[in-house]
Amino acid sequence: MLTWKSHGKLERNSLLLVIGIIFVVSIGGLVEIAPLFWIESTVEKVDGMRPYTPLEQAGRDIYVREGCHTCHSQMIRPLRDEVERYGHYSLAAESMYDHPFQWGSKRTGPDLARVGGKYSDAWQKEHLTDPRGMVPESVMPPYAFLNERELSFKDIEDRMRALRRVGVPYTDAQIANARTDIAAQADEFSSDSVNLKRRYGTKVVNRDFDGDPDVITEMDALIAYLQMLGTLVDLKTYQAAAPGNER
Ligand code: HEC
Repeated sequence: MLTWKSHGKLERNSLLLVIGIIFVVSIGGLVEIAPLFWIESTVEKVDGMRPYTPLEQAGRDIYVREGCHTCHSQMIRPLRDEVERYGHYSLAAESMYDHPFQWGSKRTGPDLARVGGKYSDAWQKEHLTDPRGMVPESVMPPYAFLNERELSFKDIEDRMRALRRVGVPYTDAQIANARTDIAAQADEFSSDSVNLKRRYGTKVVNRDFDGDPDVITEMDALIAYLQMLGTLVDLKTYQAAAPGNER
């Protein structure tokens, strides 16, 4: 152990002090960085998590493009006030396919991690079109133009391939059928929805999210994404793997 006397030596010799600082800081750095190399094993596998459907992913891209994340986080902390307001705390696995992730600590509006199913599609559409029409004191900007803009998905396959590069397990069939899957999910009467559900699971909902059956708009995609948020994992049956992790 360093005595006070040898510590004095360290403080008077700048080179020794620098070496000492680097040594101490690198321990801290290692403790923070090393676990990232085993990130695969730190994210607990949870039933129900699946890659987003192409329509949901397109909606997510609009969410990022429009900067919704500057006012909304998607991470419910395991603190009592958060859990009572928003629902079960977020699991690591629930953002495992998010690139970029949507955590965050700044909230001008509420957390959206579990907003899926909280409101009807019609409410979401009205609220996005004119937030103050639904919540008079809202400071959220209107996004009415999403109703007019046809969803462009000409590069959806490339987007899915890019996500596959960074670890989202899209299959070749999911990428090859991305366009039919988008059309199938935006139409409740689509006969292709059987294949969509085969590829992404039976819980996937297909319906006309914005109430306009003639055209698939950016509003369709964004509402499809919002309505899915926080609904993939069945939290009634979810059991935390490690003892002591439960709420
Ligand atoms: C300037 C900040 C701001 C931006 C940007 C913003 N919002 Fe909001 N949002 C709010 C506020 C404040 C509320 C709460 C009042 C309300 O419901 O309008 C809210 C509420 C919401 C709600 C209802 C949540 C609930 O649980 O009641 C949803 C859904 C939502 N926003 C989605 C979005 C989406 C999608 C975008 C991007 C297209 C977006 N917001 C952009 C501030 C913002």
